[in-house]
This record gives sequence, C-alpha cells and structure tokens, in this order.
Amino acid sequence: MTSSQNILVTGAAGFIGSHVLRLMVSKYPNYKFVNLDVLTYAGNLENIVDLESKPNYTFVKGDICDETLVKTLFEEHQITSVIHLAAESHVDRSIEDPMAFIQTNVLGTVNLLNVAKEYWKGVFDGKLFYHVSTDEVYGSLGKTGLFTETTSYDPRSPYSSSKASSDHFVRAYGNTYGLPFVISNCSNNYGPNQFPEKLIPLFINNIVEEKSLPVYGDGQYTRDWLYVIDHATAIDAIFHEGREGETYNIGGLNEWTNLDLIHLLCEIMDEKLDRKKESSASLITYVKDRPGHDKRYAIDATKLCNELDWKPSVDFREGLSKTIDWYLENSKWMANITSGSYQAYYEKQYTKR
Ligand code: NAD
Ligand code: DAU
Repeated sequence: MTSSQNILVTGAAGFIGSHVLRLMVSKYPNYKFVNLDVLTYAGNLENIVDLESKPNYTFVKGDICDETLVKTLFEEHQITSVIHLAAESHVDRSIEDPMAFIQTNVLGTVNLLNVAKEYWKGVFDGKLFYHVSTDEVYGSLGKTGLFTETTSYDPRSPYSSSKASSDHFVRAYGNTYGLPFVISNCSNNYGPNQFPEKLIPLFINNIVEEKSLPVYGDGQYTRDWLYVIDHATAIDAIFHEGREGETYNIGGLNEWTNLDLIHLLCEIMDEKLDRKKESSASLITYVKDRPGHDKRYAIDATKLCNELDWKPSVDFREGLSKTIDWYLENSKWMANITSGSYQAYYEKQYTKR
C-alpha cells in the first residue's frame, strides 16, 4: 500500500464503521477518509460527531447504489481504496423485507465494484477494495467444528444470502478483471453504538426499562462474540498487511449460548443498577423462534492471528461491562434512536411473537 491514501469508507455512521473510522482517522493523519452513508435507521451521525472537525475526514450523505454519486466521489477525492461496510445488517429485518437487503448488499456492492474497476482503469498498483463480511455466509454449525476460510458457503437467511452474494461478486471482480480485493468474515460484534435491535443492546435497554427480555426459541443458540474495537483493529491490520485476493476470518474464540450470555448480562446489570439479585433474569420471556434460526456460529481465526499477529484484546466480561456502562451513560443516544420509527419496528417485531 502507498503511504498516502484516499479511502472511501461506506456505512461508517453505523455501528462497526464508526469504530473503524475513529481508529483510522486518528491513526493515519496523512490519509483522507470519505464516509459515504445514506443514514438509514441504523446510521447515526451522533456515532461520529467527534470526527466532524478532523481535517482528513469528510462525510457525504448518499446511497452506495447511486452510480453517478459514487463516480463523482471517486473523481473528486481520487479514491485509492474502498473499505466497504454499508449494509442492511439485521437478520430479522431481512426475513420481513428481503428486497432491501438485495438492493443494498448485492446491487450496492456491485455498483461500488463497477465504479472502482472503471475509475482505476486497470492501473491497480496501490489500490484495494476491502469488503467487510460476516461469518453467517458459512451457514450453521452443529455442536462441534469451526468455520475456516475454506468452509463452503451455505447461507440460510435472506441477510446471509445477500452477504454471500456480495462476497462472490467481489471475488468475481478479482478473478475476472484483476481488481485487487480482500474480504474478512467476522463473528458477532458487541460494544458501544450498536443499534438496539441486536441482542445485547436490546436487552440492556429492556433491562433498564424493566421490559421483558424476548429469548427466541429455547435460547440454546450459540454465537462467538467479539468486542467491536477488536474488529476495528483486525480491519486495520488486514487493510494494511492482508494478502491481496485473500479472505480472513475474524472471531473472538468466545462462544456463548444466548441463555448463558443473557444470564451474565442480567447479573452484571443487577450489580450496576443496584437491583436485587435475579431481578433482571426474572424479565426473561421465551418467545416464538426466528424462522430458519442458525444454531451455532464459531470462527477459526488462526490465519489472521498467525499471519498478521492479531488477537482479541478485550475479555468478554470486561467488554460487556464497558458496553453496559456506555449505554447507561448515553441514555440520550438511546432515547433519540428509540423514538419514532423504532417504536413501530419494536411493536411489529415483538407483539406478534
Ligand atoms: P449497521 O446496520 O449498524 O450499519 C450499517 C450502516 O450502513 C448504517 O450507517 C447505514 O446507514 C449504512 N447504509 C445502509 N444502506 C446503505 C446504502 N444503501 N448506502 C449507504 N449507506 C448505507 O451495521 P454494522 O453492524 O455496523 O455492520 C457493518 C458491516 O459489518 C456490514 O456489512 C455487516 O454485514 C458486517 N458485519 C456485522 C457484524 C455485526 O455483528 N454487527 C458482524 C460481521 C460483519
Ligand atoms: O455473526 C455475525 C452477524 O451477527 C452479523 O453479520 C449480523 O449483522 C449481526 O446482526 C449478527 O447476527 P445475529 O442474528 O447472530 O445477531 P442478533 O443480535 O440479531 O441475534 C443474536 C442471537 O440472539 C441470535 O441467536 C438470535 C437471538 N435473539 C436476538 C434478538 C434480537 C433473541 O433471542 N432475541 C432477540 O430479541
């Protein structure tokens, strides 16, 4: 990679993108960052308000599917690399409205690939298209085994199918047109700024408000949890040192069944809120399962750890505690985004269960 870069980061008003941007904007003052985000319900400029005054950072409100806009940005900012995070990211919403996922995750990604290919005109030295993807493309594991970079794709929800499709297009542009790319597939993230439709922030918010905690099915589904800042450091390492054309799995080596995780969360919340033991756990309510619910995800991140000397730095209990503190200290952030359309989503999603 060249020493100076003009990087188009997509979706960086969202959860993970905001942490990636914060890390990289301050670490690389000689790079220029352009954040293209259409600000869906999940995009929130409050997540990156501290970056607004940075001289190497520009925000553009717009859609990754907008070919004219993306072309203009490549030309105006002489884009040398893309870090592509923009996506529709919630499995439950993909079950309700698959087309939105195909539009952004598939067509939006192909639009970015097309513009990059055309703008770079085959002069690929120092260029990179970094596609941020998910472990869900590999499908669902039984009780044992881990996803490696060579595990066959077996996506089982509209969300994971749209992400798998976008991964295939990225590889196809590499193979067919020589576009330099790298892909990472990461496990479940948690941390500050995550939209409260996802398990951990939803349950933190419900505990604060003493609302029921809706556990899908029997709660024996397993996820591998990674603190979001560890994902950001992995993306930084892969962007700079990852081998072109390669895939890197990112994970926390940190598997929890939903129920065990929820009990730990309840225990920490009882302590922090100075409530009686078990008072949060008493809010647990078993609700109808997610259709097609993937049983278990678990990542083998050996390649990343060995090649790029990366490892998760945040212990789960510590990360969960820091995350809870952030939500407790940022009740205004939560109040702002849980008003309006979020209420309608919540009613629709949970009253029918
Ligand atoms: P998020 O939903 O919090 O944020 C997505 C961002 O993309 C939002 O700011 C939204 O406004 C923006 N966006 C959506 N559609 C857009 C469009 N058409 N044009 C421009 N911007 C658009 O998502 P997240 O959890 O931060 O995930 C970021 C990426 O990481 C996604 O690609 C997701 O698939 C991947 N990922 C997420 C996790 C996780 O646990 N959250 C794990 C692995 C991979
Ligand atoms: O594995 C990476 C993926 O992790 C990312 O690609 C996705 O963008 C991200 O949303 C996440 O997907 P999950 O479906 O695993 O995350 P979610 O937080 O929605 O759910 C985690 C688990 O908790 C899952 O087994 C479903 C369950 N769950 C979730 C919600 C919202 C419940 O039991 N009740 C709930 O209300």
